[in-house]
Amino acid sequence: MRLTALFPLACAVVAFVLSMLCLFAGHKPGFMEDYAIVTLNTSTLGHNLIPTATTSSGPSPTATSIGSFFSSIAHNISSTIEGDLNSIIGDVADKLAKEIGIKQWYSLHLMDLCEGTYAPNATQKGAHENVTTCSNQTAMYHFDISKQLNQELEIGPLHINLSDINWPSEIQDGLNALNTALDATFVLYAIGIAAAGCAILASLVACFLHGSHLISFGNWGLATISFLALLIASIIVTVVQSKATKLINKYGNEIGAYAYKGNKYLVLTWVAVAVMFLAMLAWVAEFCVGKRNKGREYTEKSSGRGWGRSRRSDEAALRRSGV
Ligand SMILES: *[C@@H]1O[C@H](CO)[C@@H](O)[C@H](O)[C@H]1NC(C)=O
Ligand SMILES: *[C@@H]1O[C@H](CO)[C@@H](O)[C@H](O)[C@H]1NC(C)=O
Ligand SMILES: *[C@@H]1O[C@H](CO)[C@@H](O)[C@H](O)[C@H]1NC(C)=O
Ligand SMILES: *[C@@H]1O[C@H](CO)[C@@H](O)[C@H](O)[C@H]1NC(C)=O
Ligand SMILES: *[C@@H]1O[C@H](CO)[C@@H](O)[C@H](O)[C@H]1NC(C)=O
Ligand SMILES: *[C@@H]1O[C@H](CO)[C@@H](O)[C@H](O)[C@H]1NC(C)=O
Repeated sequence: MRLTALFPLACAVVAFVLSMLCLFAGHKPGFMEDYAIVTLNTSTLGHNLIPTATTSSGPSPTATSIGSFFSSIAHNISSTIEGDLNSIIGDVADKLAKEIGIKQWYSLHLMDLCEGTYAPNATQKGAHENVTTCSNQTAMYHFDISKQLNQELEIGPLHINLSDINWPSEIQDGLNALNTALDATFVLYAIGIAAAGCAILASLVACFLHGSHLISFGNWGLATISFLALLIASIIVTVVQSKATKLINKYGNEIGAYAYKGNKYLVLTWVAVAVMFLAMLAWVAEFCVGKRNKGREYTEKSSGRGWGRSRRSDEAALRRSGV
């Protein structure tokens, strides 16, 4: 039983579990919803539909053919949302999404998209995310927020679509480019998890078999593969998250969509990377210590043999000299 192998074993187990969680966070409603990659707050999406003093500054409908359509929507919305400007703004955040048939937030996970409402309400600071549904999980999920929103708007109470709320096409165009990077991330996590799993088994072997160089080297190799895969995956996720958030906020803020970065997800994935890095270092240390010990054993053995030989040759010399 070699106790020094327990440390990299523990690291590999932790990295394995954390990277599994990165992959599966949010794969079903209510499972680690906080650990989304990007969250969209759509509670005020479409606020430009409402004909109050606020819309005169915001973008107004250009096509005259849908002018009557808008006034009828406006009538329906304003019949439920009343009061002066300030209380309308407060209520818009909490009621508008339901009014046009969408959810208050959408969150991107590695394998699916979840959606739901804020509890107790959308304007409450630090509101809890109440999950309604998640899409079916798929290995390489493509974040298509435009399609999702359009579907919900079309079957919603007002039967409108994305062009009615001036949803800019730049958002989905940009997200499509980022989706390819997320596919690569999925593959990298899979490699990282598989290598971490093998590293756990190999560390167990190293615990029970007395350290051979080959086992230390093999363990180091597995830890390195897992570390590199998780490192690259984490870099990609970090960049994609930052770009997607910037993109959505750049084009979405004026129509009422806000994107937030999932910082908890970043913590999860980078801790997995750090822990696997420690496992890798531990195997380098193990390898070097093993080598030094072996070296010392070898010099002790050879000096012992040298001493024996010299004694025997001394005796031979004495015998030869006829003593
Ligand atoms: C979450 O939403 C459901 C209905 O969609 C509701 O019954 C439940 O009370 C909500 N939970 C919280 C904490 O508001
Ligand atoms: C939101 O909920 C909080 C806490 O329940 C409440 O104080 C606040 O008035 C609510 N806001 C709106 C606009 O309903
Ligand atoms: C969602 O966005 C609206 C509009 O910016 C904001 O008032 C509200 O506080 C946000 N809600 C949450 C839970 O972040
Ligand atoms: C999700 O999966 C279920 C059964 O596995 C299926 O009935 C349903 O149509 C799927 N939904 C989508 C959106 O693919
Ligand atoms: C407004 O509401 C009325 C009934 O409440 C409905 O008949 C009408 O279709 C609604 N208008 C729109 C544009 O959905
Ligand atoms: C939205 O609906 C209008 C008609 O109401 C239609 O001309 C337009 O093509 C639709 N846009 C999308 C993206 O479906």
